[in-house]
Amino acid sequence: MHFSSLIAPVFALLGAVSANSLAGRAAQLTQVQNFGDNPSGTGMYIYVPTKLAAKPPIIVAIHYCTGTAQAYYQGSPYAKLADQKGFIVIYPSSPHSGTCWDVSSQKSLKHNGGGDSNAIANMVTYALKKYNGDASKVFVTGSSSGAMMTNVMAATYPELFAAATAYSGVPAGCFVSSSGAVDAWNSTCAQGNVDQSAAYWTNVVKGMYPGYSGSRPRFQVYHGSIDTTLRPNNYRESVKEWTGVFGYDATKPQTVKNNFPANGYTTDIWGVDSTNPLGKVQGIYALNVGHTVPINGAQDMAWFGL
Ligand SMILES: *[C@@H]1O[C@H](CO)[C@@H](O)[C@H](O)[C@H]1NC(C)=O
Repeated sequence: MHFSSLIAPVFALLGAVSANSLAGRAAQLTQVQNFGDNPSGTGMYIYVPTKLAAKPPIIVAIHYCTGTAQAYYQGSPYAKLADQKGFIVIYPSSPHSGTCWDVSSQKSLKHNGGGDSNAIANMVTYALKKYNGDASKVFVTGSSSGAMMTNVMAATYPELFAAATAYSGVPAGCFVSSSGAVDAWNSTCAQGNVDQSAAYWTNVVKGMYPGYSGSRPRFQVYHGSIDTTLRPNNYRESVKEWTGVFGYDATKPQTVKNNFPANGYTTDIWGVDSTNPLGKVQGIYALNVGHTVPINGAQDMAWFGL
C-alpha cells in the first residue's frame, strides 16, 4: 500500500525517475534520532555519500505535501548529485498528518519558535558539526509544501543558508493562520488572492527574525503559469517578497532570459554584479506548466555554485 501510494507522486514530481535510479548507489538514506531540540517531532533523514568532500556542503531538500523524506530522496536528483559532488543531503520529514509542513503557526514562522523550521535548522547545525561541513555552503530547496517551507527557512534562518530554490511555493508568511493554527491550509493565499506590496512582504520576512542584520540567502523562485493548486499570483508575490528584502524593484529585472532554462520558461534576474553573476534573486516562470515544475538538478547546482 505504501509503495503504490508513494510511487505516483514520485513519478508526478519528476517525470524521469530513471535519472535518479538508486541502482549502484553505495550509500543509503539514514534516519537520525537525536539531532537537537525538536518539539514539533519533525523527522531527520540524511544522505551522506561514500565519497564525501573534505568540508562538505549541505543541501536541505524538503518534500511536498503527502510526501516523505524517502519519497523525495527517491524522486529528486539530489542524492545522485551528492554521489558526484560529495555534498550531504538532509531530507526532513513532516510530523503532521497529511503531511504538509507547518508554515502557518508562529512557532514555525519565527526564528527559534520551536516549530518545524526550528527543527530543520537544528538538523543543519547537527550535520555541520558531525561532518565538519562548510557553513558557507548550506542550501535549501523543496517542492510545493516543501517550497513554502524553503521560503520560511530563508526568512527564519537567513544566517544558515547561502541560497534557496523554491519549486511552486508561496511567499514566507502567506499561509499565516489568523487563529495561529499549526499546519493550516490558507485558501486565500493558495488561490492567489493575497496581493501585497514589496514593503509589506519585506516586513513579514524581517519580522520573522527581528533584529537580524546579517546576510540573506540568494533566492530562486520557480512557478508554473497554469498552477491551480497554488495559483501563479504566488509567483509574483514571492518575487516581490525577495526582491523587496534585497532592495530591488520587482518590476525591473536586470536580466531577462527567454526560453531559459527550458523552452517556454522565462528567467528574470535581479542583483547581478561582477562578484555575483547569477544575481541575488531569480524568478523562473514556466509557461503552460502546472503545479509540478520538474526539479532542474543541473540548474540547482549552478545556482548553489556546486
Ligand atoms: C491567510 O493568509 C493571509 C495572509 O497571507 C491572512 O491575512 C489570512 O488571515 C489568512 N487566513 C486565515 C483563514 O488564517
